[in-house]
Amino acid sequence: MPDKALYGVVGDPISHSLSPLIHNGWLRAEGIPAEYRAFQIPAGDFEAGMKTLEAQDIHGLNVTLPHKEAALAYCSDLGMSAAQIGAVNTMVYEFNGTWRGENTDLSGFIRGAKLGGLGNLEGLNALILGAGGAARAVVAALKDSGANIRIANRTLERAQSLAKRFGLAEENCLTLNDGLSLAYSADIVVNTTSLGYSGDLEFRWPDGTGRFLYDISYGKAAQRILRPAADEGWQTLDGLGMLVGQAAAAFELWFDISPDEDEAYARCRHALEAAGA
Ligand code: ATR
Repeated sequence: MPDKALYGVVGDPISHSLSPLIHNGWLRAEGIPAEYRAFQIPAGDFEAGMKTLEAQDIHGLNVTLPHKEAALAYCSDLGMSAAQIGAVNTMVYEFNGTWRGENTDLSGFIRGAKLGGLGNLEGLNALILGAGGAARAVVAALKDSGANIRIANRTLERAQSLAKRFGLAEENCLTLNDGLSLAYSADIVVNTTSLGYSGDLEFRWPDGTGRFLYDISYGKAAQRILRPAADEGWQTLDGLGMLVGQAAAAFELWFDISPDEDEAYARCRHALEAAGA
């Protein structure tokens, strides 16, 4: 038996993941004899990868792209958020030797919003850009928080099927361009698209005084979206708070301890800056 219990994150790519930095800091601070590692598992190899990790006596896992749906299929039991979102980002090993799938992205989104000064989302007019996998957790979080939701996506049909999944009316769905043209009327705009990575967003943001733009990515991709909006007065927040928030919710599920999120957030921000990302 290893002297430290093994936890980790699976994904591909995974080498730039900040999750080991976050979790190992908390494990040390709490004096828990465990270590957290990043495991690269290619798309399509989730089940085989799990068998290898189970042979190493893995106790708990975070799951990131491209495995969040494969993890859902692998788990014998699902928490409410995972079932609602249709994806698993945290796996908890149960006493009976099976896995329970959870999704802490919902809680992470809300914790990240709080960290960015958005403590109460109830009644706010929210515009979500994108309708892919990442948008599902954002819609779930905003719906649970009582926000009014509109979804804008390049492919309108994808926005409509996302809305339908969460019982939202089709009239709340727009094309990306139509949605952006209504940004001036949103209290909060959330970018879940990959536009920050591709650099394809050519949009002049309207005056954003009193409005928030929340990009759920971080680093250069987020800054490419957020900076031009900040110049127009938008209050901006990136996805680092969400990353730390979803990690803290996972840590709570595994250890029943609430770790220090502010300290981890500062540590990650420092690491990102040091890496020039
Ligand atoms: P994720 O799981 O990260 O959400 P995804 O399911 O591939 O990834 O979704 C990517 C999102 O970015 C989608 O909303 C996608 O729009 P489509 O549904 O029309 O594909 C959006 N997206 C990606 N590239 C885009 C681009 N060049 N212009 C506009 N939207 C883009």
